[in-house]
Amino acid sequence: MQISNAMAERMNAQVSNELGASNQYLQIASYFDGEGLFKLAKFFYDQAEEEREHAMKFVHYLMDVGAALGIAAIPATKTEIGTAENAFVMSLGWEQEVTAQINAMMDLAIQEKDYASQAFLQWFVTEQVEEVSTMENMLQIVRRSGEKNILMVEAYLTHSE
Ligand SMILES: [Fe+2]
Ligand SMILES: [Fe+2]
Repeated sequence: MQISNAMAERMNAQVSNELGASNQYLQIASYFDGEGLFKLAKFFYDQAEEEREHAMKFVHYLMDVGAALGIAAIPATKTEIGTAENAFVMSLGWEQEVTAQINAMMDLAIQEKDYASQAFLQWFVTEQVEEVSTMENMLQIVRRSGEKNILMVEAYLTHSE
C-alpha cells in the first residue's frame, strides 16, 4: 500500500462523507421538485451527481495506491428542509465542513511527506473554494429574493445557464 493506514482510513471516511452529501443534496432536490421549483431542483440534482463523482475519485485513488475500500454507515438525510434559505444555509455548512475535512487530510499528507496524496488532494482544495463560493452566492441571491419571490431565483438560474 502506497499510503499510510491513517490516510487510508481518512479517505475511506471521506467516501462516506461525499456519498452522504450526495444523498443530502438529492433530498433537497426532491424538496424543490415537490415545490415546483424545477431549476432549484436541478441545481441540487446536479450537486448530488457531483458529490458522487467526488466519492468515486477517492475510491479510484484508494484502488490506485493499493488500499482497501470499506464504506461506513451513511447517516440518514435531514428531511426537514422548510425553506429555500434553509436549504442553502445547510448546504453552505456542509461545504464548509467538507473543506475542513479536506484540509485535515492535506495536513496529514504534508506531515507524512505523502506527495502523491498531496497532489491528489490539491484538486479537492481548489474544488472546495468553488463549492463554498457557489453556496454563498446562492444563499445571497435567495436572501435577496425572499421566499415570497423565490420564482426570481428560478428566473436567475434560467438566465445564468
Ligand atoms: Fe464533494
Ligand atoms: Fe460539495
